[in-house]
Amino acid sequence: MTREPPVLHTGRLRLEPTRVDHAAAVWNAIERSLPELNKRMTWAASSSPSGVADYAQRMEAGWRDWTNWDFVIHLGDKVAGTVGLNRFDELWRTCNLGYWIRSDLAGQGLATEAGAAVVSFAFDQLGLHRLELTVAVDNVASQRVAEKIGFQREGTKRQAYIVDGRAVDAFAYGLLASDPRP
Ligand SMILES: CC(C)(COP(=O)(O)OP(=O)(O)OC[C@H]1O[C@@H](n2cnc3c(N)ncnc32)[C@H](O)[C@@H]1OP(=O)(O)O)[C@@H](O)C(=O)NCCC(=O)NCCS
Repeated sequence: MTREPPVLHTGRLRLEPTRVDHAAAVWNAIERSLPELNKRMTWAASSSPSGVADYAQRMEAGWRDWTNWDFVIHLGDKVAGTVGLNRFDELWRTCNLGYWIRSDLAGQGLATEAGAAVVSFAFDQLGLHRLELTVAVDNVASQRVAEKIGFQREGTKRQAYIVDGRAVDAFAYGLLASDPRP
């Protein structure tokens, strides 16, 4: 098992392990996507340049500790979003997958391309056994991303999380290392 933060390359994207010096460019991508992110991501409502700087610092520490694996997605010289593995359970060898894409770059298959690369990293490099993903029942775009990557819908979590002041029901998705990957 490698412990060197890897840069992942896909057909169109470069996924760089999140570092403190990514913070300003990530904030720029968040700021221009806030109307969409506010509907979907709990953290968006209180996001700010300093909050993103804290986030980048935590993510860099996660790479150092090898307990959290977050990537900044680059399309050419633009930050296109982030994708990462969080909530690592070392005993169960499980993680949660999370992602968002800058609004003006959505609809081009970028979340699917980035998500698939991180899934391969999770199983092939980290040796994880299972990945989980929680998607609001009305977030059809993210459900499509999950399914295109190979996740299976396993059930419904009632009021799984709070976003935009509302408790939302969400589908639980799972992907095993042994599942077929498209
Ligand atoms: C959800 C999100 C990650 C999708 O990113 P993306 O790069 O546009 O995703 P992709 O292009 O890889 O795939 C999107 C799929 O959803 C579909 N889609 C998009 N909007 C849709 C809608 N309103 N209703 C139904 N399907 C929709 C697309 O057609 C595509 O499916 P297809 O390939 O079968 O046609 C992005 O919109 C986003 O960041 N949203 C806000 C944050 C978020 O929801 N994060 C995920 C939380 S679980």
